[in-house]
Amino acid sequence: MNVDKGYVDAPIDPEIDLRAEIERLKHERNAVIMAHYYQRPEIQELADHIGDSLALAQLAAKTEAQVIVLCGVHFMGETAKILCPDKTVIVPDLSAGCSLADSCPADEFEAFVKAHPGHTVVSYVNTSAAVKALTDVVVTSSNAKQIVESLPADEPIIFGPDRNLGNYINSITGRNMLLWDGACHVHEQFSVQKLMDLRAQHPKARVLVHPECPKPIRLVADKVGSTQALLNYAVDNEAREFIVCTESGILFEMQRRCPDKTFIPAPPDDGTCACNECNYMKLITLEKLYNSLRYLQPTIEVDDQVAQRAVRPIERMLDISRRLGIIK
Ligand code: 13P
Ligand code: SF4
Repeated sequence: MNVDKGYVDAPIDPEIDLRAEIERLKHERNAVIMAHYYQRPEIQELADHIGDSLALAQLAAKTEAQVIVLCGVHFMGETAKILCPDKTVIVPDLSAGCSLADSCPADEFEAFVKAHPGHTVVSYVNTSAAVKALTDVVVTSSNAKQIVESLPADEPIIFGPDRNLGNYINSITGRNMLLWDGACHVHEQFSVQKLMDLRAQHPKARVLVHPECPKPIRLVADKVGSTQALLNYAVDNEAREFIVCTESGILFEMQRRCPDKTFIPAPPDDGTCACNECNYMKLITLEKLYNSLRYLQPTIEVDDQVAQRAVRPIERMLDISRRLGIIK
């Protein structure tokens, strides 16, 4: 068995029922399977819990299972490991990275923080453990507004790494946070022109936009919100059609929750693709999930000293979110 490629590269008997075997191994290993909404449909179907970044962090902090299999990207596994250092945390393919987290190398962020003394450092959860260790409070797109508003109005703030989310939070809170210049390659890729064309074809559709998208896309939105907020809006709203400007994996849960409504993925700027997918999220397959449970590999490891510093801003986020009633 080898994990050189970032996942367990071991042959699988073509005769087995993969789904049944994953279920069996999950019980045998006392494991819980958590999946982000951007995962492939077959992974979402098998997961014990699906959620956005905030829900996954909260679920990891609460679980009693000994093994957490996080079907998402690397920083989500790191967050779970930091919160649960005594548990085995697995991401079935460790090369499932994140362009946004990669746009903020820890050494460069540290230099940026040092160049601006006296600032409170607010970091999006889409960061490496090393960046979280430099952070005062972590946020996700589900709680960024409320957490920033919970800080004193005159407090100088550094916000990283997403310039679009930072920009959006500045615009709705009236703050003037200093922004790190990072972005997500998926959410930056939507085409304003194609979105306008799509809206002209579907004049009754509501446009749902994730705040990681740039301002020109956000300006077209009927609702700007985190993945969970967009899902809630689609469930609660009386409209029958929705154009969705975020990673297209969320359409699976939207359609499952609202079988009578139509969800149209917004297309990216380049090429002929009809929807916008995160290539990192889609690296997790049933085969990799099965082998990860079979061999309990590949595990996420976080340096102890980094973890001890990174746990504080994550727990601070969870505490504030509980206090404000954003999570239970
Ligand atoms: P949320 O899960 O907080 O909506 O973030 C979206 C995302 O890009 C996750 O990587
Ligand atoms: Fe990172 Fe963007 Fe993929 Fe989310 S969608 S994991 S922010 S690259």
